[in-house]
Amino acid sequence: MSDGAPTRRLRVLHLEDSDLDHELAMAHLQRAGLAVESRRIESRSEFETELQGDWDLILSDYNLPGFSGLQALDMLRESDRVWPFILVSGEIGEDTAVEAMRNGASDYLLKNNLSRLAPAMENAIEAAEARRARAAADEELQASRQRLAELAQHLQTSVELERSAIAREIHDDVGGSLTALNFDLAWIVRHAGSEPVRARATAALETVTHAIEASQRIMHNLRPAILEQGLVAALQWMASRYEKRTGIECVLHTSRDSLPLPTGVPLVAYRTAQEALTNVSKHAQATRVRLDLLLTPDMLSLEISDNGRGLSNRDLAKARSFGIRGLHERAVTVGGWVDLSSSSKGTTLILSIPMTAAETEADTPADAHGEAELSHDPSAWGDL
Ligand SMILES: Nc1ncnc2c1ncn2[C@@H]1O[C@H](COP(=O)(O)OP(=O)(O)O)[C@@H](O)[C@H]1O
Ligand SMILES: [Mg+2]
Repeated sequence: MSDGAPTRRLRVLHLEDSDLDHELAMAHLQRAGLAVESRRIESRSEFETELQGDWDLILSDYNLPGFSGLQALDMLRESDRVWPFILVSGEIGEDTAVEAMRNGASDYLLKNNLSRLAPAMENAIEAAEARRARAAADEELQASRQRLAELAQHLQTSVELERSAIAREIHDDVGGSLTALNFDLAWIVRHAGSEPVRARATAALETVTHAIEASQRIMHNLRPAILEQGLVAALQWMASRYEKRTGIECVLHTSRDSLPLPTGVPLVAYRTAQEALTNVSKHAQATRVRLDLLLTPDMLSLEISDNGRGLSNRDLAKARSFGIRGLHERAVTVGGWVDLSSSSKGTTLILSIPMTAAETEADTPADAHGEAELSHDPSAWGDL
């Protein structure tokens, strides 16, 4: 085969009832310089046994006593073996050849043209190796995609946990101190002996009030306290604030006021609406956007549709855009998914979460660990 390199002996299983034909075939291979280790068999039961073995290639006569090359090919296909299979026959009709190739044979040869045997074998083995390599690469790619998706989901969850922890610290430490300062300064304003002290304390009070508002705003962005009042209330509030801030008409339609939702689901829905609305104001050039929240006992569906310019696959493939990609990963953390459809009349993003899937994932840890676990859950923090 290749010059210089030590050639591995090819293990060839030969289904052939004539010893003479077997010797002849092996002689052809030897003459072509192939180092071959072969075994001749001729019955179905022997073939069945050898399917458990370790071969590089199967060479098979078409006609065998009580068995046939095509049947052997069927058995090979039904096994999980992927060895190349070459059919050899005294005479092979075109129909048979076509059928054999369709059933997965690598090649077929006539017994009176065995000079083709060595190159046919080499080709078949190379093709099988290439197929194996491609299958291995596909598998590796699949596994790597899976790992990447898991990492992305893990990051989404850790970001929420981290945000929740930071918001709690701001609330407990910064918020607590600022409130105390606020009281003290108010007391000083009331009891100030001189006008300059009162003026100074009043100014300080204003600064502190400003700092309290800022910390509340930061806490809200980190972890929306409004979610404690339920998803519907939170989305209602988001829609009206959005309309005021951007001037884009924004309405929420919902089938019912509320429904107990599994842990994690309200926050995923809230963040999805948040990102979708931000996209509308950033990219869509829309004048109207509509939120539709459909809650049934089995399914939550949240639809955000705008009347903007629409988006293309090129937009979604932007290397540095992670908003919509992040939504997909976020949805997966509660067993849901995100669909996107778009035309020149606007864009619709739909989040769907089957309740059963989300429940089984989310409920177990909370039930198992009670209160302690709740404090680690970004969406079940009732202390703000
Ligand atoms: N509602 C929308 N209308 C039109 N284009 C949109 C809309 N939402 C997203 N896009 C397009 O899709 C791209 C990807 O969005 P996204 O993943 O959220 O990333 P980013 O907002 O950071 O660019 C945007 O850059 C924009 O071109
Ligand atoms: Mg975005």
